[in-house]
Amino acid sequence: MDQANKKKVDRADFLKGKLEEVAHADPMKLFSVWYQEAIEKSCADPHAVVLTTATTDGKPSSRIVYMRDLLEEGVIIYTNYTSRKGIEITKNPNVALLFYWDCCERQVRIEGQVEKINPLISDDYFAARPRISQIGAWASEQSTVIPDRASLEERVAFYEKKFPNEVPRPPHWGGLIVEPNYFEFWQGRLGRLHDRICYEKSADDWATYRIAP
Ligand SMILES: Cc1cc2nc3c(=O)[nH]c(=O)nc-3n(C[C@H](O)[C@H](O)[C@H](O)COP(=O)(O)O)c2cc1C
Repeated sequence: MDQANKKKVDRADFLKGKLEEVAHADPMKLFSVWYQEAIEKSCADPHAVVLTTATTDGKPSSRIVYMRDLLEEGVIIYTNYTSRKGIEITKNPNVALLFYWDCCERQVRIEGQVEKINPLISDDYFAARPRISQIGAWASEQSTVIPDRASLEERVAFYEKKFPNEVPRPPHWGGLIVEPNYFEFWQGRLGRLHDRICYEKSADDWATYRIAP
């Protein structure tokens, strides 16, 4: 890497916050505070999260999705159940989520197990989506190989005709809830001496500890 590019990669120090003690006994509370702050401070795409799934033989794959709701029990996302991620989680429900809120110099790592949400909740969410997204959920066989862009557009035209009015939710599309069993809250600090506070679920409680940066 040349000097000019190296300079771009090396960033200035992290100075925007501290996480010196466990701020909440319940990590979901702290997560929700950090998420609100990311929104208030206008972080880019604060709902965007990297979702990592893995095959049963441990081969991981990651992609960005949007967190669409935050409940006491976990993080809600929506996707195609027959996509690569959808198939991987039916065999291995262990997943990881990674949020990065640059404007707050924070990242949050979450690990947990994922399951489908109640179909009635998926119905409500789907009904509130823009029509083009509803049609897209029918037209796109997410993660499958397609011959060209035109074939996708043909499928869009087909479903536009098939559903001239209301678009029902496709059975292969809906919500997932990630129920966390581990959190790491990372706050950037001066000289790379970052704060890292972890929460690990034990029975019905959370054990907390600090790890080295
Ligand atoms: C900013 C952003 C948000 C996205 N949100 C979603 C989402 O909420 N749900 C989803 O299924 N895919 C979303 N995607 C697309 C995924 O990254 C991915 O391409 C798709 O889900 C297929 O992944 P898979 O083949 O690994 O299953 C988003 C992509 C970006 C860049």
